[in-house]
Amino acid sequence: MANSVLILGIESSCDETAAAVVADGKRVLSSIVASQLDTHGKYGGVVPELASREHLRAIVPVVQSALEEAGLKLPDLSAIAVTEGPGLVGSLLVGITYAKALCFVHKLPLIAVNHIEGHIHAVIMEAGEGVEYPALALVVSGGHTHLFEVQEGFHYRLLGKTRDDAAGEAFDKVAKLLGFGYPGGPVIDKLAPYGNPRAVRFTPAKMKGNPLDFSFSGLKTAVLRWTEQRDLSAEIEARKDLLRRNPRPSVEEWLAVTPRETLDLLASFQQTVIDELLRRAWASAEEIGARSIIISGGVACNSGLRREASLDVPVFFPSFGLSTDNAAMIAAAAFPKFHRGQHAGFDLRANANLTLA
Ligand code: KG4
Ligand code: ZN
Repeated sequence: MANSVLILGIESSCDETAAAVVADGKRVLSSIVASQLDTHGKYGGVVPELASREHLRAIVPVVQSALEEAGLKLPDLSAIAVTEGPGLVGSLLVGITYAKALCFVHKLPLIAVNHIEGHIHAVIMEAGEGVEYPALALVVSGGHTHLFEVQEGFHYRLLGKTRDDAAGEAFDKVAKLLGFGYPGGPVIDKLAPYGNPRAVRFTPAKMKGNPLDFSFSGLKTAVLRWTEQRDLSAEIEARKDLLRRNPRPSVEEWLAVTPRETLDLLASFQQTVIDELLRRAWASAEEIGARSIIISGGVACNSGLRREASLDVPVFFPSFGLSTDNAAMIAAAAFPKFHRGQHAGFDLRANANLTLA
C-alpha cells in the first residue's frame, strides 16, 4: 500500500452522494453510496433543490465512511477526484466545494472528472487488460444515452447520442405514468419477464441525419397513447396505494395489482428500448472496427439488455454496484490524469452541460 496511488473519489452529480477510495486505478478499497431515493421517490423524479440539500447533509459522513472503510486518513491520499459535470449544478457544487476544501487543507492535488468518463472507467477498472481498443462505449443512464469511440490512451469521439430523452429517463417516465414510482428501470426490469415482449408493436425511431443518434420521446408518447385508449385508473391507483404502504414492493405484490395486458406493455416497451440500444451499438461497433464493447450507466443493470448483448466482439458490463452512480468510477477515471499531472485549480467550477467529446 505504501507505494500505491490512493485516490479518493467524490460524486454528487445527481441524486446519489458517493465517496470511494481506489488504489492504482483498479483496487476498490471502499465505495459508499448514499441514495436519495426515499426523498425523491414520492415526486416521481429528482427534485434539484432537495437533491442539493441532501448532498449537504450526506457529504461529510459519506467521505468519512469511505476513508474509514479503506483504513486511511486524508494525509495518506495521493489525490482527490471530483465530478465536474454533467449533472445538476447545485448538486455538483456540493461535491466540488468539499473536494476543494479538503485539497486545500491537506495540500493534495485536485482532479476533475467528467461523469460520463467515470461510467466508462467503471468497466475499464474491472475488465483491465481485457478491454481492447478501439472500443465502442454505450453509456446509458437516466441522464445520458451516448455512443463513443474509445481510443488507446482514453481519447473519445462521439458517434451518436439521444436527441431527446435518455433511455433511463424513458423507463422512469413510463413507470411514473403507470403508477410504478421512481426509479422506473428496476421495477420494469423485474416485471418484464411476466409479459410478452412482442405483444405491443412500437415503431422503431428513424433518425434523419446521423443514424447512430437515439430518440425515445416517440416511444414514450406511444405508451401514453396506449394508456389513453384504456381505462387504467383503478390499477394505477392500486399501485400508488401499494407504494404508499410499502415503498419497495416485492414482485408478487406488484403482480397482484398489474394485469396481464399491462405486463405485456412493460415487456414490449423494455424490448423496444433494448432493440434500439443494441441495434445502434452494433452498427457503430462495426463502423469503427471495435475490438471490444463497453456498456455502462444505470440502464446497464437491465437483465434483458445484459442477456441480449452478445456479439463476436467481447462485451463488458460493470458489476451491478458500479453500473449506477458511484464514486469508485470517478477515482478510477482520475488515475490516468494523476499520472499525466492533469490537476485542476481551485477555480474549478461545476459544469452542468460538460461534454466528453
Ligand atoms: O447511472 P445512474 O445511476 O444515474 C445517472 O447518471 O442518470 O442511472 C439511473 C437510471 C435511472 O433512469 C434508472 O431507472 C435506470 O438507470 N436503471 C435501470 C435499471 N436500473 C436502473 N434501467 C433499466 N433496467 C434496470 N435494471
Ligand atoms: Zn450516471
